[in-house]
Amino acid sequence: MTTATTVLDILQLSDPHLFADPAARLKGVQTSETFRRALQHALAALDPDIVLLTGDLSQDCSAETYARIRQLLEPLRVPVFCIPGNHDDPQLMARELRHGHFHYCENLRHENWLLCMLDTWDGLRGGGRVGEAQLAELDAKLESSDAEHVLVCLHHHPVPVGSAWLDAVGLDDGDELLTVIRRHPRVCGLLWGHIHQRYDHHADGLRMMGTPSTCYQFVRGRDDFALDSLGPGYRRIQLRSDGRIDTHVTQLKP
Ligand SMILES: [Fe+2]
Repeated sequence: MTTATTVLDILQLSDPHLFADPAARLKGVQTSETFRRALQHALAALDPDIVLLTGDLSQDCSAETYARIRQLLEPLRVPVFCIPGNHDDPQLMARELRHGHFHYCENLRHENWLLCMLDTWDGLRGGGRVGEAQLAELDAKLESSDAEHVLVCLHHHPVPVGSAWLDAVGLDDGDELLTVIRRHPRVCGLLWGHIHQRYDHHADGLRMMGTPSTCYQFVRGRDDFALDSLGPGYRRIQLRSDGRIDTHVTQLKP
């Protein structure tokens, strides 16, 4: 029988691709509506300690979109942690989502866990980079922190997900990131967005998790671009005091 307790219950929402205009559509999907449905569904089922937004919050890079996200999530009165995706404008996003309950690219230390937020934005080109400075900062943080367990969160996937077109726009320095992480066995997992599909693997003691978008999904394992018929999704992540990560992806009807 385990005596491990839940340290943090996280609701991850990823890649909402919202517009300033709530009626706007992307690839035929009204993204404000699918985001609303995913959020409503999650909150009916869960009582998260924090909400984590893993990038591509805005499709139109407008301040109005980020302000609307703030208005939508502020009433929850739980901390919201945000990191940018390739479709975001990091400056505008930081300006709008860095006050009150909102935390932009800010690490979270809670009980015996540390959550490290990485900024992998590298222009609107699709792919991303952690970069040498941030890798050194992460390495130093993992070295100095007295947290027993660590979860690293980012937008781009650091490992190939088996889809040629997506793997061409992943993390340029994924190998370098994994080299740093493997120096620190306290890192239990990596969590990302970007791939608009679920991904759950274990590798070398690391839990690797990719999460569906709250709008449309990409077909898994396909080498050319194709949209899946799956509906909006979200992920619950429960961090346990013994370092275990329990997680579940929920996917709604289209
Ligand atoms: Fe996306």
